[in-house]
Amino acid sequence: MSKDISLVIEPLNNVGVEVSGLDINQPISNELKSQLHAIWLAHGIVVFRDQSDITPESLIEFSRIFGPLEMHPLKATTSAEYPELFVLENGGETDKFNTAYYDGEAIVNRLIWHMDLHYTGKPNRGAILSAVHIAEEDGQTGFGDLAKAYKALPEYLKNKIADLEVAYTFEMQRIKWRFADNSGYEPGPFSPKKPADVGFPDFPDAVYPMVVTHPETGDKILEIVEQFLNRVIEPEKIGMTHAEADQLLHELVEHIRKPEFHYWHDWRIGDMVLWDNWRAMHCTTGTRTGIKRLINRTTIEGSHTLGRQLAASE
Ligand SMILES: [Fe+2]
Repeated sequence: MSKDISLVIEPLNNVGVEVSGLDINQPISNELKSQLHAIWLAHGIVVFRDQSDITPESLIEFSRIFGPLEMHPLKATTSAEYPELFVLENGGETDKFNTAYYDGEAIVNRLIWHMDLHYTGKPNRGAILSAVHIAEEDGQTGFGDLAKAYKALPEYLKNKIADLEVAYTFEMQRIKWRFADNSGYEPGPFSPKKPADVGFPDFPDAVYPMVVTHPETGDKILEIVEQFLNRVIEPEKIGMTHAEADQLLHELVEHIRKPEFHYWHDWRIGDMVLWDNWRAMHCTTGTRTGIKRLINRTTIEGSHTLGRQLAASE
C-alpha cells in the first residue's frame, strides 16, 4: 500500500482541516504533493501538528509544494539568511511601533481581519506559519473562510452584491479604517501615522468585485475584510445611495465576523498552518507587552491580480 494514502484529514472547529500522518522531514513524493495541494484547495485552511523539527530549510522546501515563494516587500522583517522567511516577532525591538491600547491595555501586534497584500490588488496566493517560540498567553491566530461566508449569505444579499465593486484604502492609522470596530481602541505613541513611517510606499486604492471567483477552484469568495475597507464603488449605478452602500458594508462586515466562519489557532511548537489567501482572511489577537512570540512565515506568490488599482479619476 502506498504511504501517500496515510494522511488523515479531520475538520477543525467551524472551518478548515487538520492533517495528520505527515512528517515534513521525510521525502514527500509527487503523489503526496498533489494530495496536499488538493487538500489546500478544497479546505482553504490546513493545520499540521506535531512536526518534530521544523527548520527554516524544511519549512521553505515544504512551502514550495504550493507554489513559488515570495520575498516580502518589508525587507526589514525578512530573515537575512533566508529571504523566503518572514519573521513575526513580539517581545523584540519593533514592539513599540506595533503597540496600541485596547480598553486601556497595551497589546503588541493585534491585527484585525485582513488578507495579505490585499491593498495591492494582487494578494499572496497563500502562506504558512510555523511557531518558533510560543507566547505563554494570547498570541492566537484567527482564520476565516470567505467562501463559506459567501455561501451562507441570504439570496437577496447575493443578488444585491453580485455586480458591485468595493474599494480598499491603504492607510496606516487604524482609526481611519471605516469598518473596523474601534471601540476601546487607542493608538500607541509610536503607532505609524503614514506608510513612510514603516518604510512602505503609498498605494492607490485597490478595487475588487464584492464577489471574487477564485481562479483555481471557481468558488465564490465574499471579498470583504475589515482592514482598509472603505466604500462601494458607484453604488448609484444600482440605485443605492452612499449611505445605503455604507450600511450594506456594515451588514457584510457583521456577517464575516460570525464565529461560524472562524477557526482560532492556539499555537504549540511543531505546528504549521497553511492557508489560501485568496479565500481565507486572518487576524491575530496580539500579546501583552514584554511577551516573547516568534513565528516564521513563508509566503506563496500571488499569480493572479484579483483586484485593480483605482485610477485617480475614479
Ligand atoms: Fe497577515
